[in-house]
Amino acid sequence: MAEYKLLLEHTNDPLFKTLAGYKSKGGYTALPKALEMERSAIIDSVKAAGLRGRGGAGAPAALKWGGMPKEKKTEHYLICNADEGEPGTFKDKQLLETCPFELVEGMTIAGYAVQGDVGYVYIRGEYMDGAKALRNALDEAYANNLLGKNILGTGFNFDIQIHMGAGSYECGEETALMSSLMGERGMPRLKFPHAPFPVISGVFDKPTLIHNVESYCNAPYIVNNGAEWFASLGASTKNSRGTKIFSVSGHVNKPGNYEIEFGTPLRELLELAGGVRGGKLKACIPGGSSVPVILAADVERAIIGYEEMGEVKSMVGSGGCMFFNEHTDMVKFAWRSALFYANESCGKCTPCREGTKWMVQILERICKGGGQPGDLDLLKQVANQIDGRSFCPLGDAAAWPVLAALRVFPEEFEYYIENGVSMVTSKPSLVGVP
Ligand SMILES: Cc1cc2nc3c(=O)[nH]c(=O)nc-3n(C[C@H](O)[C@H](O)[C@H](O)COP(=O)(O)O)c2cc1C
Ligand code: SF4
Repeated sequence: MAEYKLLLEHTNDPLFKTLAGYKSKGGYTALPKALEMERSAIIDSVKAAGLRGRGGAGAPAALKWGGMPKEKKTEHYLICNADEGEPGTFKDKQLLETCPFELVEGMTIAGYAVQGDVGYVYIRGEYMDGAKALRNALDEAYANNLLGKNILGTGFNFDIQIHMGAGSYECGEETALMSSLMGERGMPRLKFPHAPFPVISGVFDKPTLIHNVESYCNAPYIVNNGAEWFASLGASTKNSRGTKIFSVSGHVNKPGNYEIEFGTPLRELLELAGGVRGGKLKACIPGGSSVPVILAADVERAIIGYEEMGEVKSMVGSGGCMFFNEHTDMVKFAWRSALFYANESCGKCTPCREGTKWMVQILERICKGGGQPGDLDLLKQVANQIDGRSFCPLGDAAAWPVLAALRVFPEEFEYYIENGVSMVTSKPSLVGVP
């Protein structure tokens, strides 16, 4: 298997981000088709295609589309989550910058299917180029009756607006995102079963369909090529269909975004990225910094699929795939990761607000050469107090990388505490870090 370019097929064509360029490659042939279909037939098609959300959790998209009220009593909203804060992930950036019409057409199809009125694209604050490309695409779509009132003369009205985030990782969490969109502090809200799903009560307390950029971008291809064709991609896996874009970084020769068919061995993704540089492969974090790290031996046997990744105790996540060579200090990695989550904790709940800072303090003293006997037990205890006990999944995301590093590389932590230096670099990792 090699790279399978579906969403990224025309990413290197600078004209693809213009309406004329997009249309010349078959763009906007799906929307007119969709507008002639029954709404329920589009949702059935998304279900038969087996599309799962690309934002991290891999929830079936049709559950959300089909969960939106059929009988429309009030405004229906759509949200595109383009916050892309998970360290190691930069695929939505490329989609926004080079393929903005895939998102606009995909959201418009979804908007029609769920009787949407307005779609908000919540873009990570730093993604100015992506926001500009999307702005141009929206302007062209409005000027050509592909958005706004009476789209293509069908009587369907739909608007898309851009909302810039302000650089908070937590605002990528869907309930925090909606709070932020409504002008409130970017903090999460209660979730099901303590509160209704967003499809029942989401932004402005109205039914809301929320998806990642990549999820919406698949919609035109499902409508155009059919659910059966889409479901044939990844058919070798248990339940992962279509393609997935992985942002590959770390110690590889050719870092970048690579789109592969589900069912591709992880080893082949590494080969696409030019193989390891600077030494032998030591470990990999396949799906963004919050998913568990795996050893090189597991990279050899891992198959990319939502269920298949579980067999090596990791996840597809958001597709932020980092490879590490043999010279990587995994204790320092655990500290760096913990520091990110501690900084991004919104402070609403105690396990995460306090626990993430405790993890940083313990890891920091180990990395400065001052580790104490009992530190590893304490670290595990703190991480386990965060995992599953926090108000939102950011807490779990903070605990998992630390717990996985302790499970996979116990000898590196023990060596550090006994000798005050890294087993890999023979020196304390945080010399000079205040
Ligand atoms: C702390 C945190 C940050 C998140 N950040 C993002 C993000 O940047 N982009 C994204 O699409 N989903 C993110 N998610 C997942 C969203 O909450 C949500 O599940 C997703 O947008 C749904 O889209 P999907 O159905 O297409 O996967 C985050 C979740 C958590 C807990
Ligand atoms: S786990 Fe708690 S403190 Fe951490 S980001 Fe979520 S709500 Fe905020």
